[in-house]
Amino acid sequence: MTAIKAREVEVREAKYEDLPTVVMINRAVLPENYPFSFFEFIHKISPRYFLVALVDGKVVGYLMSIIERRGSLMIPDVSLAQRVKAGERASHLLSLGVLKEYWGMGVGSALMREYLRRLEEDGVDFSFLEVRVSNQRAIRLYSKFGYTVYKVIRAYYLDGEDAYLMVKELRG
Ligand SMILES: CC(C)(COP(=O)(O)OP(=O)(O)OC[C@H]1O[C@@H](n2cnc3c(N)ncnc32)[C@H](O)[C@@H]1OP(=O)(O)O)[C@@H](O)C(=O)NCCC(=O)NCCS
Repeated sequence: MTAIKAREVEVREAKYEDLPTVVMINRAVLPENYPFSFFEFIHKISPRYFLVALVDGKVVGYLMSIIERRGSLMIPDVSLAQRVKAGERASHLLSLGVLKEYWGMGVGSALMREYLRRLEEDGVDFSFLEVRVSNQRAIRLYSKFGYTVYKVIRAYYLDGEDAYLMVKELRG
């Protein structure tokens, strides 16, 4: 293990003051960007599932998700939407990003570990996410944490790329 791999990663809930850094990281590493007000809104409604990762006290990564409600238009699959309608609790992982200089050091894994720990503690039934079919690094990370490809969503992204809808069951 290299010295850099051994650096400690701290994961905690995002504070309001972290949001500008989160927006900066999102713009630096992902083509899917949102206005500040979107991050502010998600932080307000879902603070428990809006996490940041710190290395040497500096925010270098974030993960944000929400618990989907019945009738939500953000569930891109009828059968998953029906499960939510029937009363299951589903967490939608909306965005995950780590500053490029910190890739491969376990920061993304630390965020996923804490996120899934919280979902299990809260009795959430399943978690789902969309990922570009070309994003091997992210797909490898999600697979490592037990997500499997549920289906392909054709032309999900604005540039026409397909997405994998990946799901992880959290209960029995
Ligand atoms: C995806 C991302 C969050 C991973 O963060 P990270 O801090 O590098 O993740 P980790 O260091 O914990 O590595 C996690 C896993 O990624 C995979 N991975 C790491 N380096 C890799 C590489 N060079 N090639 C392919 N997969 C790799 C491995 O499965 C690794 O687990 P392992 O080390 O146990 O084998 C980060 O690369 C990122 O921000 N990418 C751009 C944004 C993005 O794609 N977000 C997801 C959108 S759905």
